[in-house]
Amino acid sequence: MPGAPEAELDPRVVAPRCLVVDDDAAVRSSIARVIRTIGLVPLEAEDGGAALRLLEEHGEVPLVITDVNMPGVSGMELLEEVTRRYPDTAVLMLSGVSDVKTAVACLDKGALDYIAKPALLEEVRARVAKALEKRDLLLQKRFYHRNLELRVRSQAGRIRELFLQGVQTLAHALEAKDAYTSGHSIRVSRYAVQTAVRLGFAGDALEEVRLGAELHDIGKIGTREAVLNKPGPLTPEEFAHITEHTLLGEKILSPLARENPIVLRIVRSHHERMDGGGFPDRLQGASIPLEARIVSVVDAFDAMTTTRAYRGSRTPAEALGELDRCIGSHFDPEVVRAFHDAFPDPSSLPVQA
Ligand SMILES: [Fe+2]
Repeated sequence: MPGAPEAELDPRVVAPRCLVVDDDAAVRSSIARVIRTIGLVPLEAEDGGAALRLLEEHGEVPLVITDVNMPGVSGMELLEEVTRRYPDTAVLMLSGVSDVKTAVACLDKGALDYIAKPALLEEVRARVAKALEKRDLLLQKRFYHRNLELRVRSQAGRIRELFLQGVQTLAHALEAKDAYTSGHSIRVSRYAVQTAVRLGFAGDALEEVRLGAELHDIGKIGTREAVLNKPGPLTPEEFAHITEHTLLGEKILSPLARENPIVLRIVRSHHERMDGGGFPDRLQGASIPLEARIVSVVDAFDAMTTTRAYRGSRTPAEALGELDRCIGSHFDPEVVRAFHDAFPDPSSLPVQA
């Protein structure tokens, strides 16, 4: 390989390194000379094993130029190791005429290019420059994709946050219209969280319970006020109308379906009963989602301890007694037990004054 004049390097600038791997010392030093002329600092290794040790010692380098055929760790093996450990490193293969097939196979395994030996200085220089340019483009593309992904994720999070703020405001506005139900969703979500913790819920699963409990009656936005506040028994038509709030609530919250499926299940199924006598699906026992069984118990407790348009309130102790009485028919015994455990002193519960 013809020699090349060595470029003057500014010692104050830390130049990027290039690892040159070949068992032929003469080839190594020729390539190293070319490398210096384009402003890179060459590191030399006589085989794949020595190359990997140098990489461990110096850290990632932008470019590795490696012979295909070497004793010990081959060029192909080195390529595989480098692309696995240092995905941002570009690898150029050097091959003799007899190794060209292997060099081409290396392109499939992630090498950016190959140089056939013996090579002219200008050709090596051009291939190296092209490989570095290609690497820059690949890195830019990767950076752009990563950035784009992050931006899309953050936008999606923001949209979800705004939607949640909207429905939470809606839920609270719905309650604020009616002095009887004021604060219901917040109390229900507090009771539900404490009960769920006793049942082993934590992290995201617990957050789903909290949110589902807070929004469980959001569908009542579509229930006629005359039915909601009717002081007396409901007609079959009115009862059918009020049952619709579970389905409407699920529909309103459908944008959360992918991220918070449990929230939707709570909203849909919080009026199911263990004996199958609830609505809207007449689910029975364990086929009712546990989270909905939790909200069913604490919702009933809060409703009983709150004065409603159609009846006065009960004391917490009386309401707990009623929950016990309805174990098996309405309520899941495990959930009622967990509620008792979470609030061993009923008089301390923050029921509506
Ligand atoms: Fe409800």
